[in-house]
Amino acid sequence: MLLHIPDVLDREQVADMRRRLEAAAWTDGRETVGAVGAQVKRNLQLPDASPLRRELGETILVAVAKNPLFFSAALPLKYLPPRFNRYAGGGTYGYHVDGAVMNLSQGEQLRSDVSCTVFLCDPDEYEGGELVVSDTYGEHEVKLPAGDMIVYPSSSLHQVAPVTRGARLASFFWVQSMVRDEGRRRLLFEMDSALGVLRADKADDRALLQLTGAYHNLLRQWSEV
Ligand code: NI
Repeated sequence: MLLHIPDVLDREQVADMRRRLEAAAWTDGRETVGAVGAQVKRNLQLPDASPLRRELGETILVAVAKNPLFFSAALPLKYLPPRFNRYAGGGTYGYHVDGAVMNLSQGEQLRSDVSCTVFLCDPDEYEGGELVVSDTYGEHEVKLPAGDMIVYPSSSLHQVAPVTRGARLASFFWVQSMVRDEGRRRLLFEMDSALGVLRADKADDRALLQLTGAYHNLLRQWSEV
C-alpha cells in the first residue's frame, strides 16, 4: 500500500530545514549502499555522523510521532534515524530494493518494513525526480508538495527518476513495524480508518465497542513488540 500523508512538516519547518541543508557539506550517496546499489545511485547525502542530520532527523521523527494517519498505517516499533539526500544535474537512483536488515546506531538491528520519503521541495521547483514504486498493480509515480510524505512497503522495487532541472531535497527513513506482514498492516489500517468514520458518525456504541475490541485483538495476535 502506498499512502500519501499530507502536511507532516509545516511551511516554516520546511523553509528552516532547506536553509540549513543548502549550506551543509554533502557526500556521495554511494557511501551508504552495497556494490549493487552503488551501480545505480547518483546523488548526494548528508554524512551519517553529521550533527545536522541528527538534529533535523529528530524534528522529522517528532512530527511523524504526532501524525495519527502515519501511526495507523505504519504501526511503528522502531525507526532508522532519517537521512537527507539531494538530487541535481541528472542525479538519479535506478531500480533497487532496500536492504532488509539495517544497523541502528546503538548496535541494534532494524528490519525494514515501511519506507518513508518526506519531500522538501515543491514539484514545480525541479524537473524529473519522481519516486517510482513498482508493485503488482504497475508503476506508481510520486512527486509531492514540500512537507508531505509517502509511505510504501520496503519490499517494493523502486527508483528515483533523473532530476534534469533544479534540485530535489528529501528526507527518507525506514520503520520496523509492530506488524511485519504488509497484508495484515493494510487490513488493520482499513479497519482503523472505518472505525474513525463510525465514531464520527456516532454509530451504535455497542457495535463500535465490539469492532474496536476486534481491532485491538487482531493487533494483539499479530504484533511483535
Ligand atoms: Ni531505496
